Amino acid sequence: MEKAYLMHGGDYNPDQWLDMPEILETDIERFREAKINTVSLGIFSWAKLEPREGVYELDWMERIINRLYENGISVILATPSGARPHWMADRYPEILRVNAMRQRSLFGGRHNHCLTSPVYREKVQRINTELVKRFGDHPAVKMWHISNEYGGECHCPLCQDAFRKWLREKYGTIDALNDAWCTAFWSHTYDSFEQVESPSPLGEESIMGLSLDWRRFVSDQTIDFMEREIDALRRAGNKKPATANLMYRFGGIDYYKQAEKFDIASWDSYPTWHREKEWETAQETAFWHDVIYGLKRKPFLLMESTPGATNWQEVSKLKKPGMLEAAALQSIAHGADGSMYFQLRKSRGAEEKFHGAVIDHYDGRDTRTFQEVCAAGNMLELVGEVAGSHKEAKAAVLYDWENCWAMEGAKGPRNEGLHYQESVEKSHRALRRLGLNVDVIDQRCPLDGYRFVAAPMQYLFREGFSEKVRRYVENGGTFVLTYWSGVVDENDRCFLGGRPHGLMDVFGLRAEEIDGLYDWEENRICRKNDDAVKELGADRDCAAEGQRAEGVVRGDGRKDGYACKYLCELVKPTTAETLMVYGEDFYAGMPALLRNVFGKGRAYYVCADAEQAFYDDLYEKLVREAGIERIFDGQIPEGVEVSERTKDGASYVFIQNFNRHRVQVALPEGSVLYGRADGCLEPLEGVVIRKN
Ligand code: GLA
Ligand code: ZN
Repeated sequence: MEKAYLMHGGDYNPDQWLDMPEILETDIERFREAKINTVSLGIFSWAKLEPREGVYELDWMERIINRLYENGISVILATPSGARPHWMADRYPEILRVNAMRQRSLFGGRHNHCLTSPVYREKVQRINTELVKRFGDHPAVKMWHISNEYGGECHCPLCQDAFRKWLREKYGTIDALNDAWCTAFWSHTYDSFEQVESPSPLGEESIMGLSLDWRRFVSDQTIDFMEREIDALRRAGNKKPATANLMYRFGGIDYYKQAEKFDIASWDSYPTWHREKEWETAQETAFWHDVIYGLKRKPFLLMESTPGATNWQEVSKLKKPGMLEAAALQSIAHGADGSMYFQLRKSRGAEEKFHGAVIDHYDGRDTRTFQEVCAAGNMLELVGEVAGSHKEAKAAVLYDWENCWAMEGAKGPRNEGLHYQESVEKSHRALRRLGLNVDVIDQRCPLDGYRFVAAPMQYLFREGFSEKVRRYVENGGTFVLTYWSGVVDENDRCFLGGRPHGLMDVFGLRAEEIDGLYDWEENRICRKNDDAVKELGADRDCAAEGQRAEGVVRGDGRKDGYACKYLCELVKPTTAETLMVYGEDFYAGMPALLRNVFGKGRAYYVCADAEQAFYDDLYEKLVREAGIERIFDGQIPEGVEVSERTKDGASYVFIQNFNRHRVQVALPEGSVLYGRADGCLEPLEGVVIRKN
């Protein structure tokens, strides 16, 4: 049984260096020194693999795979559909994508093929079959890297027909479609499916049901494309795991659905480190690690990160000393079983010649970046036993793709930006700072394993979601819902009868209207002078006239309640207690935070887009109330990340300092796998302890 180890390596594009074969030997020497044990190979190699139609040249790849294997280096082998040979576009223009303006692309770029083209799908099947026949059983090949960063959409006639077929299967009749999309609006009724066109600035953009279904179709069509790619490997009898590298919310695909069709989740992480506060970037990155872990609820791969600077961000910011190792450790802390780079050898020309790489044009081993990579390699070796361990969480934050698409597609209540992403990350951050593992889930995920669930801005309720929340609270869970929730159904049609739809009794209120604030505007969330809130702590004056207000105990000691911006919802309580009120405007004194006891559980409703401190202070109380055990009893200084992974009864605690100053933490009992045992953490330093 192979000893557990963490992957270290990255994208390797030797097809760019075939005219300089000696480069491979230098690279292998460097890989060994940096403890690089895995390369992702052939991602953009199609033109070298099939230089002419039907002529496959794979010998060069076999020589490279063999040399890597002889040196103990494994291969994640790519299917090359992310970029195709010129001859293919020349001969089969249908493979080139058409944009919403109905303009067909010229050859160029990448990740821009038609998702439907039978010709492209057939060419991809063939090259994938050639690769799996030749290399599928090679002992070096551990996994399949399916295409690269799927994303985008095609509006070509083939995709239009596929969309209409998808709609027929979904709705059955055109009347059902008209009803679901409310097309009586502006006389947009369709007489037939043939009349349906994808959304376009030249045509239809006011039927939100169409826009939402188009987003779903594009996501489904892309996932189907990926499935067909994997089928080619499975039909050849190959069972090695397949992954598709994801990238933030880059590609318009519902990752939770996509994850059902691949074996291992992986993603490409490019944080913009070294802005105002490292730990804020660390928290944003932690959120995405938790999204990716949540897709399969098992270890994932950090497939790409830059060893130096990216070259596509606004500035090519160098990673300061220690940043690379800290970022790699953070991925492992959040459930990655490998930390990989883009890329291992810097390209010589074209768009990425200035993108960070392990080995640069100078080729030496004495570069700062190379030395940092070696340090990360050592760290991954020291903590290698963590591989395969899981990340358990009792708290979760809801982040739902369809909900996001629907909200972003709607007109109102704030076309200047709804700040959905920020609202989700504020809840995630408030729980992480308490030293908890946090899962990020979508509306379809089960809630039973959690004691606390935060669900910001669930504008669209999927089928069955409200019933699930009801059961969860009834059975003793603590659920936090916020403003602008339970407004529309899965077709972006407003529920009739009040909101949050299906949950007005669970939350003990009805949301009546919502105020969109200008960017410069602000209101406040203050304590209501009410016995029910006495237990929550100190009093404080509120800006509202004559309001003696009391609030959640502010961690930072400020006395004026909490700021809220962008959206303020006005609700009418029925059975809910009002814990805090608005401080200003015509709705001063109206509820801003409410609690309803329902069954054995508690349902909280936050009415406005509150500042981070509000969530920090509120969740500290609710997590304690919910009896969730924290990873770490000690006080966790701001900017310190604490995570835990568990395997076979062992618990691994990761503590990292993302501040720019030293911190001292009281370490939990156990053996130190990596880092200092004295609890003193310099900036970017971390420690990994196997708890007894
Ligand atoms: C993406 C791609 C890579 C490379 C990097 C550069 O993640 O997957 O091919 O272009 O960006 O940062
Ligand atoms: Zn198309």
